[in-house]
Amino acid sequence: MKDQPTFLDLLLEAHIGLERQGPGSRETVEKALSFLGDLSRLENIADLGCGTGGQTLVLAEFLKGNIAGLDMFTAFARELDKRAAKMHLGDRVKGVVGKMENLPFEKNSLDLIWSEGAIDNIGFEKGLSHWRGFLKEGGCVAVTCPSWLTSEHPAEAEQFWADAGSRLDLIEDNIKIMQSCGYQFVAAFALTEDCWTQNYFEPREQAINKLIEKYDNCDTVREYAALNRREAELYLKYKQHYGYVFYIGRAV
Ligand SMILES: C[S@@+](CC[C@H](N)C(=O)[O-])C[C@H]1O[C@@H](n2cnc3c(N)ncnc32)[C@H](O)[C@@H]1O
Repeated sequence: MKDQPTFLDLLLEAHIGLERQGPGSRETVEKALSFLGDLSRLENIADLGCGTGGQTLVLAEFLKGNIAGLDMFTAFARELDKRAAKMHLGDRVKGVVGKMENLPFEKNSLDLIWSEGAIDNIGFEKGLSHWRGFLKEGGCVAVTCPSWLTSEHPAEAEQFWADAGSRLDLIEDNIKIMQSCGYQFVAAFALTEDCWTQNYFEPREQAINKLIEKYDNCDTVREYAALNRREAELYLKYKQHYGYVFYIGRAV
């Protein structure tokens, strides 16, 4: 009998060819950058949990500095390298394999830490507090994190995120956490619906359908597909209550 793929095999295979591995957009990258002041002073940038670098390559269009895209998966970091080389950006955009909770950079060396859709894997407070030491004085952080948008927190959605290892907090509470970790709060804004649906769920659904065909609808693929589809259904059901929020801060 043919070996069944694991969940991790399927996650990598479904996501490696996608533009993005989580909700986001070019427009929200531009909007977050607009809060950072003079972009020409940003020489050393890290994009943490970069995936295959959808947002990393947009950053590279607007910033002239060096960008290290860090991800725990070698396949994603190497895919970023390939995409950067194709865009003739290989001299200043590099994929790095590493962990967000144990950064392989020099202390006080970064002008900007960017991170989309990844910090909740280690926790907002833990991430911001660890990353603070790698920023220069006055350096900035721009990070998206799933957050509650209302005071009502539907139990079904809360449980889904908890099972995925993520905790959601209200925007005002995350701002207080950011301040307690050594940042001046600059701005926060919620991602729009198309960041989730058009830019992420729809291309992912197409990739999942290819996996179902390729693996002949095996049990693991069916479970993987059901989990992903439930995530999309819950978002559509409860989108007024939660969403990804961009938080921008300055190290003080
Ligand atoms: C939801 S995806 C977002 C990818 C990309 N930033 C985007 O928005 O398209 C989260 C990424 O974080 C990476 N990741 C998760 N935990 C990590 C960790 N502890 N250290 C480094 N990367 C991690 C995953 O491999 C994945 O590529």
